[in-house]
Amino acid sequence: MQENFSLKPYNTFGVDAKAKYFAEVSTTDELKDVLSFSKTNTLPLLFLGGGSNVLLTKDFDGLVIQLNLKGISEEVLNENEILITAKAGENWHEFVMHCLDKNFGGLENLSLIPGNVGTSPMQNIGAYGTEIKDIFVSCRVLNLKTLEIALFNLKQCQFGYRDSIFKQEGKGKYVILEVSFRLTMKNHRIKTEYGAIKTELENLNIEKPTIQDVSRAVINIRQSKLPDPKQIGNAGSFFKNPTIPLTQFQELQRKFENIQGYPNGDFVKVPAGWLIEQCGWKGKQIGNVASHKLQSLVIINATGEATGKEIFDFSTEIINSVKEKFGIELEREVNII
Ligand code: FAD
Ligand code: EPU
Repeated sequence: MQENFSLKPYNTFGVDAKAKYFAEVSTTDELKDVLSFSKTNTLPLLFLGGGSNVLLTKDFDGLVIQLNLKGISEEVLNENEILITAKAGENWHEFVMHCLDKNFGGLENLSLIPGNVGTSPMQNIGAYGTEIKDIFVSCRVLNLKTLEIALFNLKQCQFGYRDSIFKQEGKGKYVILEVSFRLTMKNHRIKTEYGAIKTELENLNIEKPTIQDVSRAVINIRQSKLPDPKQIGNAGSFFKNPTIPLTQFQELQRKFENIQGYPNGDFVKVPAGWLIEQCGWKGKQIGNVASHKLQSLVIINATGEATGKEIFDFSTEIINSVKEKFGIELEREVNII
């Protein structure tokens, strides 16, 4: 247990907020010990995995717990499928690479997403045509009030776009201890329809891609436009892509003929990056904070010295200008602490 502890190395924005108490736990028993300390001292709790989807807007006057539970296990389900379970503290990308080394398919489109396995159900992480809900089986959680362990299946998790029960009515009630996925051992389903994957595979001269090739293509695309948090502080997309009614989209189309949108029934998902760029934010810097020059949906700690409040205020300005120009209210994807 450490006191008055800087969280700068523990959040990918690189914000220098302090935790009143900080503990790193490697076993469920250690976790229960620190939880009992927080109960005795009535301390608010904050769990951190890789810190790649949080914005710390102030010092945290409570106990920050970094979950370092490790371990991966396998259970063959049938001749084609395997159930693979990873503990919360496993690094997500290393887990994806581990599965690809063993030729287990299903996670390849989710290569190079920062963070830990235990956090992946929080916002149903997704990229390049896959979300974890597509391969998710269950997660084991600890109920923070009763200290009982429960298993949440796919339905109970209520996954949506960047959403789950853990961001809604389950918020602050559970800590995810491990996650299980159903992956393929052969007859892999190759998904290359989304985004620039096909073009990237052509660049690599690959006609019949394997799951490893898809992973390579996704990694190349991501590296070409997303800033590496080790070099520039950021938390990926700061906002969700908004979904608006088709009628509103058609009205906007009359005014902004280049507006992009992905129709889904009576609704259309509009890329927030496009909206933000149209408002003149791409690459723009105010003080220590900027919108990334290659991806305006990503807000960066441009100087490395930004406070969480500065980043938050910058994001409010973006929300206001998108609202004013397009009448669309952007919603933050990053967890504001
Ligand atoms: P943290 O930031 O540590 O935590 C996130 C939230 O979950 C916090 O509220 C925290 O309190 C809570 N939490 C953490 N661990 C647990 C637990 N075990 N149990 C309960 N609650 C917990 N996301 C995507 O979906 N797709 C992308 O393509 C993508 N690209 C990204 C690219 C970059 C460069 C970056 C920096 C981020 C990107 N993200 C993306 C966002 C981020 O990687 C994911 O949201 C990731 O799952 C966060 O994991 P983490 O362990 O870092 O979470
Ligand atoms: N665009 C612009 N200007 C910009 C940025 C994007 O016009 O500055 C346009 C692009 O030209 C493209 C469209 O917006 O036509 C979509 O852009 P991109 O393919 O880069 O994806 P995105 O919608 O910005 C989403 C996820 C990412 C995920 C990628 C790939 C959200 C909020 N973001 O980004 O997830 O990696 O798709 O699937 O859904 C994250 O959640 O942190 C994240 C990085």
